[in-house]
Amino acid sequence: MVPELKGKKVLIGITGGIAVYKICDLVRRLKKDGLEVKVLMTEFSTRFVSPMTFEVLSGNPVFTDWSNDPLAHIHLARWADTFLIAPCTVNTLSKIATAQGDNLLTTTVLAYDGPLLIAPAANHVMLSQKAVRKNIDSLIKDRSAVVIKPEEGLLACDEEGEGKLPSVERLYDWIVWSLMPKPLEGKKVLVTAGATREYLDPVRFISNDSSGEMGFALTRTARWLGAEVTVVAGSFRADPPPEVDLIEVVSASQMLEKVLALYPEQDIVIMNSAVADFRPTDRSASKIKKEESLTIKLTRNPDILERLGREKKNQFLVGFALETENILENAREKMERKNLDMIVANPASAIGSRDYRGWIIYKDSEEEITAPSKLSAALKIIERIARLTAP
Ligand SMILES: Cc1cc2nc3c(=O)[nH]c(=O)nc-3n(C[C@H](O)[C@H](O)[C@H](O)COP(=O)(O)O)c2cc1C
Repeated sequence: MVPELKGKKVLIGITGGIAVYKICDLVRRLKKDGLEVKVLMTEFSTRFVSPMTFEVLSGNPVFTDWSNDPLAHIHLARWADTFLIAPCTVNTLSKIATAQGDNLLTTTVLAYDGPLLIAPAANHVMLSQKAVRKNIDSLIKDRSAVVIKPEEGLLACDEEGEGKLPSVERLYDWIVWSLMPKPLEGKKVLVTAGATREYLDPVRFISNDSSGEMGFALTRTARWLGAEVTVVAGSFRADPPPEVDLIEVVSASQMLEKVLALYPEQDIVIMNSAVADFRPTDRSASKIKKEESLTIKLTRNPDILERLGREKKNQFLVGFALETENILENAREKMERKNLDMIVANPASAIGSRDYRGWIIYKDSEEEITAPSKLSAALKIIERIARLTAP
């Protein structure tokens, strides 16, 4: 995870839904990444998972009422940097929307004025009631709460519908989002990620080993800082980031087409995908038969970055360069030749390593970046971009 999150204070409110058990993993993950967690439970929720479990996982006492502190609602509300209620029952959601304070959890929400994240989880019919929809709208409009959309699937009650608690990964991402400043608010960011594939026949292709991890890390962190992000991705092994528009493509030509279509409305474009330089000149419609030898003729693919540089209007254009020698000189030459605003140069030794070391090259200077993970490096790169594109 990213060092910037260490010591941030996360208050988690738990209410009486069947999905309570999923929060155990969330608390564990936050704690492991160095965040401080306090858990606040409604009386009904303690029937699903014992407070003792959350006490052990969070390393803090669990609050269910005022028995240990008559000002617990004020103290918890002032302590928290962010407040997530998950799972949030329809009952508690409606009470919060109508400003009721009939237990410690709802009273703490009343006393709190920081970022509020609500993850409703319930039977799909319960959630689709008109009164409940109205309450959700009011939480978003009047309370500026983020109501995290439940997922669709088989619910615990054995019915299919939209009502499942989002994955721990999604909840975690929203928590981080709520803790970050928003210098990219109102900005549109386009990131490309992964590797393109150039098919020789219906089953074989030429490609490269890009996992998509760095592209997705840039996408996630740009969203954390407030941007509206679209990612155009070739093939990838990394998990795609939650809550962003993911457009999947196969070949370099498809990537060029998608990126060019989106380009005019973007403020920032970050080309991180590993695009194949060549494609087979002819693509066989049927599987190529085994022979003694095979010669494949290749044709040069379009240079997407160069094209974007040529067609640039007000966009801030960022490229990546993987170099084996004369890293800084070669990367700067590429930046100037392709009319980029910034380039990130990575040594070939960076491939496959967990730690990150690279250079950001600006128009008139350069900066070495070291970080314990690609996610952390991506955040630094996005912060620099945000600074350079600030009004
Ligand atoms: C087994 C069981 C599962 C329940 N699951 C949910 C649920 O997933 N979502 C929900 O909104 N209510 C659910 N309920 C209903 C709530 O528990 C009930 O409305 C309760 O009053 C909520 O109290 P609280 O909001 O103070 O925690 C469930 C009830 C039971 C008995």
